[in-house]
Amino acid sequence: MTNSWKVLFIIAIILSVFLCRSLAIENVKFVVFSDPHLSLPAEGVIDDFKLGLHSLELLENTIKDINEIPNLKFVLIPGDITKDGEPWNVDKFVEILSKLKVPFYVILGNHDQSIITQPGKVCQAGLSKSTIIWALQGHGFNGPHGCWSTDPVPNLHLVGLDTNIIGYWGGRISEAQLKWLDSDLSINRNKLTIVMGHHSIVPFSKDEEKDEWASFYLENGDKLLQLFVKYPEVAFYFSGHRHISTRYIEHNGVYHIVHPSIVTYPMRYTVYELSKHYLDYEVRDVPVSSELWEMGKENFLQFGDFWRLKDTPNTPEGNKKYLEYYESNDTKKARLPLRFE
Ligand SMILES: [Fe+2]
Ligand SMILES: [Fe+2]
Repeated sequence: MTNSWKVLFIIAIILSVFLCRSLAIENVKFVVFSDPHLSLPAEGVIDDFKLGLHSLELLENTIKDINEIPNLKFVLIPGDITKDGEPWNVDKFVEILSKLKVPFYVILGNHDQSIITQPGKVCQAGLSKSTIIWALQGHGFNGPHGCWSTDPVPNLHLVGLDTNIIGYWGGRISEAQLKWLDSDLSINRNKLTIVMGHHSIVPFSKDEEKDEWASFYLENGDKLLQLFVKYPEVAFYFSGHRHISTRYIEHNGVYHIVHPSIVTYPMRYTVYELSKHYLDYEVRDVPVSSELWEMGKENFLQFGDFWRLKDTPNTPEGNKKYLEYYESNDTKKARLPLRFE
């Protein structure tokens, strides 16, 4: 081997060691809580499938509980922070979240924009989503756009998307965001990446293919899936919106994980621990009185025709299956192996 080849060989070894090291992430603990739907008392605010009148208490209890978790690095909130984008709910959300001891990152949900009109639905005047984006600057948002990215810890890349359609509860990813995401991922290679969008992309079970539930899923999620194939650094896609306890499915090497609402039974949040080889998680109940817990469960059973599976009628047997599906107790804890270190 000539001297110049020897030098090139040594440089290649140094580079490969450096690149391998650059993928290594120190153990990092973080929380995801979703769909707080903060609804200060106003006309139209009630306790039904969502516990609107108790949403303030549920959010405050969640924040207090999270603040007790040792060594926590950050908190993620995948949207639906308010009932319908009311200014007082946005302001109160910012005030309550300021009590968190760690940074938080948030995206918008379909309820975080001006009124979603529906015949017979009482809505207060909401803010435009750009106003809410400005109210949440520094919590992912960095300027006027609904999408953002940041590295909350070294070598971990976090992307927030705006998957919402004005005036509708379904989701779609715009061409402009797809272009931006392609560019963002291309300049953040070799970082483990979490992408967060309010709407899910792939169904979590056969039951999710019910026609009325199509709007829980992105209309054009296939475009995102194509980008995830192009950038294998994308290891996780986090969503909310579905109001079901934490579930995951692995699709083409990406773990898609959906998160429960803290205002719909079973009111829960998820604690994650990312290590060199795994993402571990544990789902926790929001601490509430037994009366509120039972009320949440009763409301879940009584206000939920739309939310029921095809074969879960309001009978003792049907309710048992309906509860089991939404409680998802077999996925309250999981260890997900990472495909690269
Ligand atoms: Fe929601
Ligand atoms: Fe939603």
